[in-house]
Amino acid sequence: MNSTHRPLDSLRSQRWYDSQDMRGFAHRQRTQQMGLRREEFMHKPVVGIINTWSELSPCHAHLRNRAEAVKRAVWTAGGFPVELPAMSLGEVLVKPTTMLYRNFLAMETEELLRSHPIDGAVLLGGCDKTSPGLLMGAISMNIPAIFCPAGPMLNGKWKGKTLGAGTHTRKYWDELRSGNITQEEWVDLESRMTRSNGTCNTMGTASTMTSIVDAMGLTLPGASSLPAADSAHTRMASACGSRIIEMIWEDLKPSDILTRDSFLNGARTYMALGGSTNAAVHLIALARRANVELTLDDLDAVAREIPVLSNIFPSGEYLMEDFYYAGGLGALLQRLKSKLALNARTVTGRTLEEDIAGAECYNDDVIRPFDKPICAGAALAVLKGNLAPNGAVIKHSAADPKLARHRGKAIVFDNHQDLVDRIDDPALEVTADSVLVLRNAGPKGAPGMPEWGALPIPRKLLAQGVRDMLRISDARMSGTHYGTCVLHVAPESAVGGPLALVRDGDEIELDVDARRLQLCVSDDELARRRADWQAPSPRIDRGYTAIFQEHVTQADQGCDFDILQNGQNQGEPQIF
Ligand code: FES
Ligand code: MG
Repeated sequence: MNSTHRPLDSLRSQRWYDSQDMRGFAHRQRTQQMGLRREEFMHKPVVGIINTWSELSPCHAHLRNRAEAVKRAVWTAGGFPVELPAMSLGEVLVKPTTMLYRNFLAMETEELLRSHPIDGAVLLGGCDKTSPGLLMGAISMNIPAIFCPAGPMLNGKWKGKTLGAGTHTRKYWDELRSGNITQEEWVDLESRMTRSNGTCNTMGTASTMTSIVDAMGLTLPGASSLPAADSAHTRMASACGSRIIEMIWEDLKPSDILTRDSFLNGARTYMALGGSTNAAVHLIALARRANVELTLDDLDAVAREIPVLSNIFPSGEYLMEDFYYAGGLGALLQRLKSKLALNARTVTGRTLEEDIAGAECYNDDVIRPFDKPICAGAALAVLKGNLAPNGAVIKHSAADPKLARHRGKAIVFDNHQDLVDRIDDPALEVTADSVLVLRNAGPKGAPGMPEWGALPIPRKLLAQGVRDMLRISDARMSGTHYGTCVLHVAPESAVGGPLALVRDGDEIELDVDARRLQLCVSDDELARRRADWQAPSPRIDRGYTAIFQEHVTQADQGCDFDILQNGQNQGEPQIF
């Protein structure tokens, strides 16, 4: 606690606990009902630990223990810790897609913090959507908050080979379908690929997002690189508990940390990591919550300037454990130093420059120098053209360079079921030059914009040795996957985007260098097709999904709800 700390009675929790009316009595009485003594919680800052632990969230299996480490430190630092469970969003076990619930978690976080006597928050998450979900809510709430990332799992190993979560699932699935591995080997892989607590060990969406928010100053420096299974990870969680108490007294809020500079630092880190395309959606959503201007064009401009330096799957060949041993995010940020806004503030109260001072790289193959990037292509290219007037994205660094300039005939799948039904049909007239198109897979159309964008290669082409093709959709793609997949086409087909007008046999042209995606059909013909087009009726008219379909914005706008973007939090509830 420093000498300039704010007065105790300015803490929002005191308006619950120190209130002398009948409700104040009830707040104190009911807290003692849980076995706490008055002196254990009175006149102390209250820290809400928002925990996305659940028994169906394997990446977060250790977060219950980490919450205990946070609590230990909060007690030691003179605070009162309270753990609040929130929707866990375990990426793999949630159907149809966690993206449907990212905004749910964001709303839940904001409302948990708003409606309870909480002065500051420690956010426990890391599996893909949980980082943006928790932070979107905390940014809107704008009380002191620190993100405690779950940390990546250890390297996977099988038959002497290194395995990356997600990336190798798809690779070996293709090998199984083409007969190169046996069913027994496939079953054996189940228990070998993901062998410890923690988030995917590849540069999937989880590590992309936790590293980005680390670079934006929302975690303790370098916290995102600590493997979940390392005891240093538990100590980091404990340090979050100590630091949040100081942040409460300093009144250091997300709005004091998040500026356009910090978002651009996040974007630069994203590109140097060769991060997941999902980050393009989440970063824009976070920026809008923080009232910071950030567009797809900004991300494209950053991508042109920053090469992929992290040699991690799926763009490279190492895993997050190797990244940590090579120096972790601090080492990467040192490499990027000349490109970063170094005076950006962080949760430490210091500048980014001060936070990364002393970080060193111990392996130049894992974290490459600027003159030895891991590939020629950028982590992200934003494409525009008559097929994607508001933009689409491609992860250039994880795509076949031979397809970066390609013209081919479309094979259109009207929705995901149509794709499943026909993709392996031996009668499908498809060649390696065809362009596979999937529509009605976007935010409103699917709904929830699932990770269907890495459309499977038709079985008959797999048998011929084809491993990549040009694929286009309004869906997303897992950050752990790879391939020449044009994603996030906006506007999506379900709201009448041009993707809705494509027909089998139409020629489509991709030119990544020119950032162009063109449907080679005349404007007159497209106008005729549009006149015949009928909007699909919303498929779901009940519950949260109906609310989602009504309020979700397009991918280029971050897929947040229109009623949550930019708006000011309603503040502390005044009604008793
Ligand atoms: Fe949780 Fe990949 S499934 S991070
Ligand atoms: Mg993922």
